[in-house]
Amino acid sequence: MIHITVEDRTGSVETIEIPEDINLSLMEVLKASEYNILATCGGMALCATCHVEVLSGMEQLHEASDDELNMLDTLPDADENSRLACQIRLNEQLDGLHIKIKGSLD
Ligand code: FES
Repeated sequence: MIHITVEDRTGSVETIEIPEDINLSLMEVLKASEYNILATCGGMALCATCHVEVLSGMEQLHEASDDELNMLDTLPDADENSRLACQIRLNEQLDGLHIKIKGSLD
């Protein structure tokens, strides 16, 4: 199982468990776990409503694409720990990741 610790917008922290062979993005898993993420663009790196801050484990992630970086650049509250959850494919290397949900609900 892949364990990901998630802090929501209220500061509540929970660890979710995801089967290793699931072929989903982090955004899809968060939505399936009933976190409130708009994901208006459906995972195309075009809306940034799936913005998350990586609190620990950034080195476990593959590098962001230019499309992802360009979209993060448009966010006033993004920093070097920011990623778009829709651009992160789940795999066993992500076990232990700790993130905070930041995407806008507007
Ligand atoms: S779902 Fe739109 S950028 Fe991730």
